[in-house]
Formats: sequence, C-alpha cells, structure tokens
Amino acid sequence: MRLKLIAAALPLVALAPVAVQSAGQPSRSPEEIYTTRCAYCHEAGGWGTRALAKRVPAGEAELRNRSSLPPAYTIAVVRRGIGAMPQFTPTELTDAELEALANWLDRGNR
Ligand code: HEC
Repeated sequence: MRLKLIAAALPLVALAPVAVQSAGQPSRSPEEIYTTRCAYCHEAGGWGTRALAKRVPAGEAELRNRSSLPPAYTIAVVRRGIGAMPQFTPTELTDAELEALANWLDRGNR
C-alpha cells in the first residue's frame, strides 16, 4: 500500500523541474505566438479587427498597425478578455511570453 503511494508520487517529482523552467523563460517568440494565437482575429478581415474598426481611429484597427499600444494595456486585455475577446490563462501563455508579446506589439511599428 505504502509502496503504491510512493510510486504514484514519483512522476510528479520528475516533472517538477520541467514546469519551473517553462514558467521562467519565454519558450515561444512573440511572432510565433501572435501568428498562432492572435492573428486569425487581429489581421485584416479578422473578427477583432472588424470589432475594433468601430471604435478606434481609421487605419488602427489591426493591432500591428497601432501608433500606440501600451504593453500594460495589452497584458490586462489578454488576461481578462475584453468584449467578445476571450481571456488567455497563464497555462496558454506564460507571464514572460505575454510580456514579450506586449512589448513586441508596442514596438512593432515605430
Ligand atoms: C477569438 C478572436 C480573438 C483572439 C484569438 C484574440 N482577440 Fe484580441 N480582440 C478580439 C476582439 C473581438 C476585440 C475587441 C473587443 C471589443 O472591444 O469589443 C479584441 C481586442 C483586443 C485588444 C484591445 C484593443 C483596443 O484598442 O482596445 C487587444 C490589445 C487585443 N485584443 C490583443 C490580443 C492579443 C495580444 C491576442 C493574442 C494573444 C488576441 N487579442 C487574441 C478578438 C480576439
């Protein structure tokens, strides 16, 4: 009985270092995340772009065409969701990945 418990706990111990590593460093580039997780809504013709066209200045509806997109705002929007946009959890996008993505989006066009 006791042996079974130890055997069940072993895989958890073996996985722990991997989990710590992936939380600490961005494992995917901002471009990669944007392309796979954001672009289908935020490129030309996407749902997000069409929604934003109703309330942002002309030419700024595509996120990558923004003249200004403060990283703190992007981080809050992505974690909480906004309007019809779903939120992204830290499991889907680590804090480090989100920070890099938000900085990349803000820098991208200036
Ligand atoms: C399923 C579609 C969808 C996906 C995927 C999506 N968004 Fe959005 N996003 C939207 C919609 C729709 C809005 C506009 C919501 C509203 O205000 O009505 C929006 C709004 C935003 C805004 C607010 C812009 C502003 O001017 O207020 C930011 C920033 C943003 N999204 C970033 C992202 C990022 C970064 C990703 C990828 C991690 C992402 N979104 C993925 C649909 C999406």
